[in-house]
Amino acid sequence: MNSTGFIFDLDGVIVDTAKYHYLAWKKLANELGFEFTKEQNELFKGVSRKRCLEILLDIGNITATQEQFDTWMVEKNIDYLAYIEKMDASEILPDVPKILQFLKDKNIPIALGSASKNAKPILEKVNLLHYFDAIVDGNNVTKAKPDPEVFLIAAKQLGISANNCVVFEDAKAGIQAANAANMVSIGIGDSSILTAAKYNFKNFTEIDFSFLKTLLS
Ligand code: BG6
Ligand code: MG
Repeated sequence: MNSTGFIFDLDGVIVDTAKYHYLAWKKLANELGFEFTKEQNELFKGVSRKRCLEILLDIGNITATQEQFDTWMVEKNIDYLAYIEKMDASEILPDVPKILQFLKDKNIPIALGSASKNAKPILEKVNLLHYFDAIVDGNNVTKAKPDPEVFLIAAKQLGISANNCVVFEDAKAGIQAANAANMVSIGIGDSSILTAAKYNFKNFTEIDFSFLKTLLS
């Protein structure tokens, strides 16, 4: 039995869906009469759909009734899913399948730990679902990142103790969650944002097998 488990975030780590989340939120903001910039979209990474809408309405200085809030949540997701519908394996981020295959060949347990409620259909779309021994997503948690719940459930499902798990994350809240879970946090993306990560890489092309082997030992 292997003693190390690997947990991957989805959006921004496995696939670049942040751009589709952005386009769907931007459309809603424009309909409500204000702009939503790519810089502001940074605040949405790793954050639940509900919290994203709360932040968006703050940006637009808009007060919503519960009914409006619920309608906009649904509307944003319908627009987002229209982009997901067109996705295929070409949208997997560079070298992700190579890393997953390396771990699979060694029988290392692999989990997904994502805030998204759309995680499973996305993994199916890009044909990566079969790599994962456990999928923990926005449908399975009560507390959003930076709370460690999502990663702790993933570790439990893999049957690996938390301090023997490695987490790949592109969001600040995700790195905080991994650290709070006592896991090895690996930041994928901008190291000036992911300062709390134990290791930082721009993307998976910078990660070689010898580094992965050191994490296994
Ligand atoms: C996270 C994204 O993975 O999932 C966030 O980084 C997103 O931007 C969140 O809001 C929830 O996603 P979904 O698919 O449930 O709306
Ligand atoms: Mg992410």
